[in-house]
Amino acid sequence: MAVKHGVARDDAMASIELRGVVKTFAVGGGEFTALDSVDLDIERGTFTAIVGRSGSGKSTLANMITGIDRPTRGVVRAAGVRVDELGERDLALWRGRNVGVVFQFFQLLPGLTILENVVLPMEFLGVRPPRERVDRASELLERFGIGAQARKLPGALSGGEQQRAAIARALANDPSIVVADEPTGNLDLHNSEAILELFSLLALEGKAVVMVTHERDVGLRADRVVTLVDGRIASIQQRAHDRAPNAETRARG
Ligand SMILES: Nc1ncnc2c1ncn2[C@@H]1O[C@H](COP(=O)(O)OP(=O)(O)O)[C@@H](O)[C@H]1O
Ligand SMILES: [Mg+2]
Repeated sequence: MAVKHGVARDDAMASIELRGVVKTFAVGGGEFTALDSVDLDIERGTFTAIVGRSGSGKSTLANMITGIDRPTRGVVRAAGVRVDELGERDLALWRGRNVGVVFQFFQLLPGLTILENVVLPMEFLGVRPPRERVDRASELLERFGIGAQARKLPGALSGGEQQRAAIARALANDPSIVVADEPTGNLDLHNSEAILELFSLLALEGKAVVMVTHERDVGLRADRVVTLVDGRIASIQQRAHDRAPNAETRARG
């Protein structure tokens, strides 16, 4: 399995780069600026939280990184490509390969088993023989403590279990970037803790983990806290976790 502890990374470049990113939406007769001149670098091996009040532009920012939405102006680079310039098909393939996306409401396909949900991203890219896809999916589910639920439908699992399954799905193709929008928004404290721990671990393993949350306490669990106010970056705080300096050093190579 590609996800291992202490993997040395040779790419010191920022995994995600936003330059002068502006996003406006047409509203009524006018225009609403959801993101205003956002410049941001996010490196591999770090866990970054995007925090701010409801409506501050957090989800819009996450959608710039995943390519779910495009900037009105500015440049978005992630995992080696100009995300803002990709066509639909290339975007879907690029995302499938490089970005694991995690949502507040899990978005597992309700008619497929948990195992099938996790196999799906590998099928989409056509990577690995079918047998290996199932093995990898099973390993991920085991790793997240829900191996016994593999043959169940999502509706039979608790919220915490569904979110772990959704994270397993997000990791199926071993992406270098994980983007999670309010991943703990629908979970109790215990399950939220487990997800935050997992994200810290994924960052230690060399991924760029980006988590959007309106809960400041949740955000403070990250290495770095980017605060948005009205679509602008108001502050970037580096957290003094004991592991943060290592992660930074490694990310810089
Ligand atoms: N598709 C859209 N059309 C119009 N306005 C939008 C659209 N998406 C988001 N907005 C507006 O942009 C602002 C930021 O939204 P969002 O990024 O979802 O905020 P957050 O995730 O921080 O709550 C909000 O005022 C929201 O109403
Ligand atoms: Mg949001």
